[in-house]
Amino acid sequence: MKFKTLTAPALIFVIAANLSLFSSAGHGDAKSDFETSCTACHGFGVAGAPKLGDQASWEPRIAQGIETLYKHAIDGFTGKTGVMPPKGGFSDLSDDQIRAIVDYMVTERQ
Ligand code: HEC
Repeated sequence: MKFKTLTAPALIFVIAANLSLFSSAGHGDAKSDFETSCTACHGFGVAGAPKLGDQASWEPRIAQGIETLYKHAIDGFTGKTGVMPPKGGFSDLSDDQIRAIVDYMVTERQ
């Protein structure tokens, strides 16, 4: 009997610890990183942000070269229509994660 009353809270603690571990890790592959970090603007074209899949708005940007896109995504930049914040405001994303997301955005444009 005593065993049961002790294990239930312990189990809840373990589950809670695992959940918080997952949410603090927060980032997975490029697609899910895009969805958590970039889609707020790039999913809807906020402030002229090039939308995922919108080839016409990506074409002239891709023409700048992929290194420029990486740099603008990592360091941020101010363009003709709006401001791209450094890493979209998600400074916990590594430079490599940002590059992977940009690759995803660029290949998903068709
Ligand atoms: C707060 C809104 C916002 C968020 C969040 C955001 N962006 Fe942007 N982004 C913009 C805007 C606005 C532009 C276009 C600025 C312009 O050209 O005037 C842009 C442009 C870009 C460009 C094109 C750069 C170029 O040289 O043309 C890339 C690449 C990019 N964003 C990547 C990302 C990535 C990756 C994320 C997520 C980690 C992200 N953005 C999150 C607003 C945002």
